[in-house]
Amino acid sequence: MQILASEITEHLKGASMIRKMFEAGLELKAKYGEDAVCDFSLGNPDLPAPPAVGQALSDLAADADKPFTFGYMPNSGYPFARKALADYLSGEQGIAIDADDLIITCGAAGGLNAMFHAVLEPGDEVICPSPYFVEYGFYVGNHGGSLRPVPARPGTFELDINAIGDAITAKTRAVLINSPHNPTGVVYTREQLTELAALLTKKTEEYGRPIFLIADEPYRFLAFDGVEVPSILPLYPYAVTISSVSKNLSLAGERVGYVVPSPNMPELREFIGAITLTNRILGFVNAPAIGQVLMAKAIGSQVNVTVYAERRKAMTRVLDDAGYNFVMPKGAFYFFPEAPGGDDKAFCAALQEERILAVPGSCFGCPGHFRLTFCVGEEVIRRSAEGFKKVYDRFAK
Ligand SMILES: Cc1ncc(COP(=O)(O)O)c(C=O)c1O
Repeated sequence: MQILASEITEHLKGASMIRKMFEAGLELKAKYGEDAVCDFSLGNPDLPAPPAVGQALSDLAADADKPFTFGYMPNSGYPFARKALADYLSGEQGIAIDADDLIITCGAAGGLNAMFHAVLEPGDEVICPSPYFVEYGFYVGNHGGSLRPVPARPGTFELDINAIGDAITAKTRAVLINSPHNPTGVVYTREQLTELAALLTKKTEEYGRPIFLIADEPYRFLAFDGVEVPSILPLYPYAVTISSVSKNLSLAGERVGYVVPSPNMPELREFIGAITLTNRILGFVNAPAIGQVLMAKAIGSQVNVTVYAERRKAMTRVLDDAGYNFVMPKGAFYFFPEAPGGDDKAFCAALQEERILAVPGSCFGCPGHFRLTFCVGEEVIRRSAEGFKKVYDRFAK
């Protein structure tokens, strides 16, 4: 009997490729042992949280027997956590942000859902450069909109501003960018973002309805070789930054993120009220109490990024030695090389035979590539070298 909504049945069918890969990975690990499998498939930060998190947790334990330590709170988050976050973000984003002008959410994922629920009319479109984080399609679809991927510039994965301009119509409600980027590691430059902001200013005037520019930036802290990650908030009044402490504090399971609109948004109070409401009525209610305390006390510290930088070097050596073509990631913890031979699914299946797990580019709307995460120890990266070379030689012919 049909117990599910047809939309969910369709999603379940579509998700089967990633699920099959995930299950095959589990089987390999069960058969050969965890250490015999090189798993580059999951973007789950493996570095320990910074010491400030542990300290905050033991401080909190002393309050465990007090009333309301774990109780409900304002839907937008604890006032002290919003204040700590606002002070931090004012420096990071280069624009003064008030504690009342941001909302703490259940991760960036919860923030994106609260945002789309607040602004999308049925049939509205959200443009995003492709490849893209595959969950975006769900986050937009959950609220009656549809995602409109626009290919990034081939060869560099930079924004194709002309193509974005051509894709904008009266239905466009937002342009969603992610920098540093999952899965390519591209970081958009100040020039590109300024150009995009100018385009959206023009189109907003033309259509008489704001087109939001949303920056999903949980990897902001992880840019290599001193690359700048410019903030969009000072560039455009309808800019909204959505992020989290999932990656910089390795707190992904605690589900703490935030939505921060540009303080220059003319309808700022209305917007804040709307996101506070949608955060509540979507059933998130408020972000986790413990996670907010940890964030408030640890914000400003971060995981040891030099470990990620060393792994990036090690992965570069492995891929270069084997002969792969790839754009050097400027940020985040992913590589997105070309799949030799072009068939990304067949290629990833062959890697699996060598006990190497990678995700086909098709899962990010970009066939012909594959994604590797470097949330794994350097020894795993080194151990994978032989398998990568073997499969490259087989497919590159
Ligand atoms: C690009 C991107 N956006 C959003 C998220 C969701 O992050 P969070 O844990 O903050 O919800 C992820 C998680 O991997 C991501 O890669």
